[in-house]
Amino acid sequence: MISQQTIQQILSRIDIVEIVGNFVKLKKRGANYLGLCPFHNEKSPSFTVTPSKEIFKCFGCGVSGNAIKFLMEHEKYSYVEALRWLAQKYDVPIEETEVSAEVRQQQQLADSLYIINNFAREYFSNTLFNTEEGQNVGLSYFEERGFTQETIKKFQLGYSLNVWDAFTKAAISKGYNLEYLQKTGLVTVRNEQPGDNYRGRVIFPIHNQSGKVLGFGARILVKNDRAPKYINSPENEIYIKNRVLYGTYFARHAIDKLNECLLVEGYTDVISLHQAGIENVVASSGTSLTQHQLRLIKKYTNNLTILFDGDNAGIKAALRGLDMAIEEGLNVKLVLIPDKEDPDSYVQKIGAAAFREFIAANKQDFVLFKLQISMQEAGNDSSRKSQLVNEIAETISKIDKTEDFTRQQDYIRQCSQVLKIDEQGMINLVNKFIRERFQKKENQLAKEQAASTPPDDDLSPEAIAAMEAMEGGGEPAVNFFNPDEKQERELVKILLRFGDKPFSEEDKSTVADYIFHLPYDFESLADNEMVRKILREYKQFYDQDNLPDRKWFLYHNDQDISSMVVHIMEDKEAELSAAWKEKFEIDTVYGDNAYLKDTISTTNYLILRKIRKMIVENQQEMERSTVFEEQIKCIEMHKHLKQLETELTQGIGTVIFR
Ligand code: UTP
Ligand code: MN
Repeated sequence: MISQQTIQQILSRIDIVEIVGNFVKLKKRGANYLGLCPFHNEKSPSFTVTPSKEIFKCFGCGVSGNAIKFLMEHEKYSYVEALRWLAQKYDVPIEETEVSAEVRQQQQLADSLYIINNFAREYFSNTLFNTEEGQNVGLSYFEERGFTQETIKKFQLGYSLNVWDAFTKAAISKGYNLEYLQKTGLVTVRNEQPGDNYRGRVIFPIHNQSGKVLGFGARILVKNDRAPKYINSPENEIYIKNRVLYGTYFARHAIDKLNECLLVEGYTDVISLHQAGIENVVASSGTSLTQHQLRLIKKYTNNLTILFDGDNAGIKAALRGLDMAIEEGLNVKLVLIPDKEDPDSYVQKIGAAAFREFIAANKQDFVLFKLQISMQEAGNDSSRKSQLVNEIAETISKIDKTEDFTRQQDYIRQCSQVLKIDEQGMINLVNKFIRERFQKKENQLAKEQAASTPPDDDLSPEAIAAMEAMEGGGEPAVNFFNPDEKQERELVKILLRFGDKPFSEEDKSTVADYIFHLPYDFESLADNEMVRKILREYKQFYDQDNLPDRKWFLYHNDQDISSMVVHIMEDKEAELSAAWKEKFEIDTVYGDNAYLKDTISTTNYLILRKIRKMIVENQQEMERSTVFEEQIKCIEMHKHLKQLETELTQGIGTVIFR
């Protein structure tokens, strides 16, 4: 792990104009910079970079974020990869923190597996090209299948000799640990004899997105009912099957450029299509798509086109799984390869140009395709048909991203035509599903709130007065229990802006000292999960006597935190007082120490809110209770809480009216 110090150092150097400028030609326009958006096609520039806020935003496609987000989007880096890129750029030496022994062991193990896989890849490739058996058996097999030397080299294909332990011996004499060799699946031990697992098979290395070998698929050469056609690497620390798509390393640039990802089933399909110049293709390796894989695709494109083998019996099952792709916001199209062919055999049969034309001409929309198949199945069964209408409406209702609104409307129109039902009826049905999902969420929210919201008339006049004063007097008072979490965000703002500012001259304490020494844990007082995370992390820094600056959260690897902090820091009021100061060279009413009042009133507000919640809970308990002693306890508790409440409301009043 990169140390916090290093990260802080990197963040302090970030100049968003310079970083974006590496990839986009920017021109200065007033306080901003303007350029052509790299995330969508445009002729006139709507992509802006605002150095004062350290953010970019495109007014065309809506993408926005900070410098790290830019690198993650543009270069498809992970957060850590973006940091490493920046560290190199700014010449910041990376200091790795002491990780726990367990984590370090994991990392070392993963490294070892990569090293062994890389050795094996080279070994099998060498065997393929430079041994007699390799040439006669392996190479001639690939050639027979129409793979050129160039293709074989590009995909780093190989061959494993039909010898008990040729590879095992080589690996062990190189000093590789037998236990790790077994973990990779390259070596198995039978009767205490370690031997090669892929004997007499051709080898397909499986790469991650940056080209490292995660594992292998090993294909048998002769048809044999007693042995599996492919043996794949077992799952281990680096090979997690449902997160991998075969071919991403070779396909990623083409997918990006063409804004479409073709999905096939097999290793050989990917390779043949590449050889035919169709490079935006990856393989699911014969299993149905997982959410991880869908998200992997979504990193590059929203357009997924699935090529199904002609004889595929599992299409129906596959179709069910694809609702998930719709929910992920992917635009799914299907192509059926005809005549019991698969993409590999079909492209070799009809040639690259004809294959491309075939795909373009036979691309069907997933939703409509699903509808057609189910229609055929339902035949004249009317109950089955009405079930079908419901299913389709539900699928369509899942396209609920605002940007996809027109797509949803198109579907409604087309599907109602195919189903021969009234379009308005379909609209109503789709809306019903959307409403139901919405309602479910609402109910959940309401339930959570009911537990914490007391009736309005329970507010004491003092509390109302205090609230009004806090909200700035003239403005309408917000509901005390307003779930907009304004005050929670205010607390974050105070910490990030003023955490290190003096709070008390007497004991030299800071604002952060004050907040963390109150007998309340604000993390648990906050409702907003993001606020809680920020408070927790801030506290960890505080405990180490090392307050994080604003940038730490602004560039947080949790994008939700980062954007929340962007919003908090953009707060209009804050800008207003800064503007006052700049323009008129005078301070707002409270002068430079306004943050003291803000600190006290915000913390008091949150504590008060908590106490009022407790009062309500206590009342509920009292009502439920049938035991006299318990009731007495509740009454005592009530008195105590009310006392606290009064003190606090008075406290808020004093602070505000002082
Ligand atoms: P296919 O049987 O369609 O194989 O399985 P293929 O890729 O077309 O291979 P060739 O053309 O016959 O040589 C599709 C994919 O399913 C996985 C593999 O990833 C394969 O590429 N599979 C298949 C296995 O993992 N194990 C098997 O035994 C069979
Ligand atoms: Mn095949």
